Amino acid sequence: MCGIVGYVGGRPALDVVVDGLARLEYRGYDSAGVAILAEGALTTAKRAGKLVNLREALAEEPPPAGTLGMGHTRWATHGAPNDRNAHPHVDCSGTVAVIHNGIIENFAALRSELEEAGHKLGSDTDTEAVAHLLEDELKAGGNLADAMRRVCRRLEGAFTLVAMHTGDPDLVVGARRNSPLVVGVGDGENFLASDVAAFIEHTRDAIELGQDQVVELRAGGVAVTDFEGRPAEVKEYHVDWDVSAAEKGGYDYFMLKEIAEQPRAVADTLLGRIGTDGRLTLDEMRISDQELREVDKIIIVACGTSYHAGLIAKYAIEHWAGLPCEVELASEFRYRDAILSPTTLVIAISQSGETMDALMAVRHAREQKAKLLGICNVNGSTLPRECDGVLYTHAGPEIAVASTKAFLTQLVAVYLIALYLAQVRGTKWGDEVFAMVQLLDGMPEKVDKVLETMEPVRELARSLAGERCVLFLGRHVGFPVALEGALKLKELAYMHAEGFAAGELKHGPIALIEEGLPVVVVVPPRARAVLHDKIVSNIQEIRARGARTIVIAEEGDASVEPYADTLISVPAVPTLLQPLVTTVPLQVFACELATAKGHDVDQPRNLAKSVTVE
Ligand code: AGP
Repeated sequence: MCGIVGYVGGRPALDVVVDGLARLEYRGYDSAGVAILAEGALTTAKRAGKLVNLREALAEEPPPAGTLGMGHTRWATHGAPNDRNAHPHVDCSGTVAVIHNGIIENFAALRSELEEAGHKLGSDTDTEAVAHLLEDELKAGGNLADAMRRVCRRLEGAFTLVAMHTGDPDLVVGARRNSPLVVGVGDGENFLASDVAAFIEHTRDAIELGQDQVVELRAGGVAVTDFEGRPAEVKEYHVDWDVSAAEKGGYDYFMLKEIAEQPRAVADTLLGRIGTDGRLTLDEMRISDQELREVDKIIIVACGTSYHAGLIAKYAIEHWAGLPCEVELASEFRYRDAILSPTTLVIAISQSGETMDALMAVRHAREQKAKLLGICNVNGSTLPRECDGVLYTHAGPEIAVASTKAFLTQLVAVYLIALYLAQVRGTKWGDEVFAMVQLLDGMPEKVDKVLETMEPVRELARSLAGERCVLFLGRHVGFPVALEGALKLKELAYMHAEGFAAGELKHGPIALIEEGLPVVVVVPPRARAVLHDKIVSNIQEIRARGARTIVIAEEGDASVEPYADTLISVPAVPTLLQPLVTTVPLQVFACELATAKGHDVDQPRNLAKSVTVE
């Protein structure tokens, strides 16, 4: 989720661009850069770290004053966060500069083609290939916009691109596919940005670019076409948000925005990992197939919500890869005498990559000579550096302390690893892996569908704001979902909440059931009849004792209706993938209930986004 700013007009472009980047800092980033076109030349400056580092570089060596410029704050996906990989990236001649937000899936093939043609690429990024592609297309004729359209037709994946060329000294060009780009329409000046927060101090008139569109930005006007060059209808709108609301995309809280971003986050985490033949390609893990075939045990270590992702991973790994899998709280792991060996694969899951409990567990496993794989959302954080391999989630910066989109992308990552293990170890046939991968590829749409039906959940949450306690029940992968639902309510609404394996109820917890006590029950798909029927019995047991049953079940599951005081339906999906759709109502429920209690859901009391102490 990089930050992008472009400008053309009468003001000093450097000021407009750097101030715009400052407005986008909330998005989280690890490096920043600018490009200014002045006196017929392009000057770029870029630094790893925070914006202050870039400002220092610009103060030491101010670029020539120009009225055309663009800037970028990078959230690293391909290539470590350093000066070399920071944007903008330029072509061989230094006359084309480009900045990018997103993931270009076919960049490796494009990069090889460019290098074979003699281009010299110096960074590890997917973006740099675009600068060189533009260089070639400009030689083929037309202006920068023509070149951009031809290049975009060759790109696969999600991208927002903004570029400048010394041959078009009054033109900034933008393009987008599956990644946001908005135009700020001024008087004698125009802006481009990843979101309106970057320019609303200058103008509140904006144009949201549509899918597969290219925009030509000049001081005097804006022209929009599709990738084929056909003029596109544009709709101007007026932004009435204040800056704070703009940073949250119009939502009251980052958490709400991040819940809404989950379909995109899930899709981005799948990008580039499913080959055209349906086989998984996880080369980035840097652990060879042979090493994976030699693994005889997996231990997952994590904390909090990430631990719940690990619990779900266990079911997937055992079912698809046929490997024994333990899941351990990172803070407990090194105090037990875990049996580790060089053929043990320890998987550490951490959104931040800085959780000290997780890092200490990794260091303990390293001492025991285990193989280490990290699942992390922050490129360049500590965890990936201490593991043999890493699979990054692509949730983008998660600002709210309570983890939502990062959790769903962790599930995608563990599913990919479990299926990849099955693929390389042959525990599932190629067509079985392919079939499940196709279902996984369809999950963003299912998550989107859940988000569209959440109003009754919000009403329910508000009606329960006065409750003292809520219990959560689940079986199989629904049990970690119940734990996650309880954690969300604890950390946001400061209420007592507890998750149980539904089969455990009769061994004690059922004594907690009393008249009117809200109990959320996550019901497995009917396809798992043995699990499904048992949990329906559990619902009857608690209802008979006065519980208020809130049931989450797949659409069309009529068997639970007689016992559900509230029924929340989710799309029918395979058993192991069900947490991707059943978790979302619990996130919305906890967020809405906490909001009804007047809590700041982004910064809950006593909590930190990354717990960097043991
Ligand atoms: C999740 O909502 C919490 N904020 C917390 O439990 C978190 O999951 C835990 O601290 C682990 O953080 P990590 O994923 O960054 O390692």
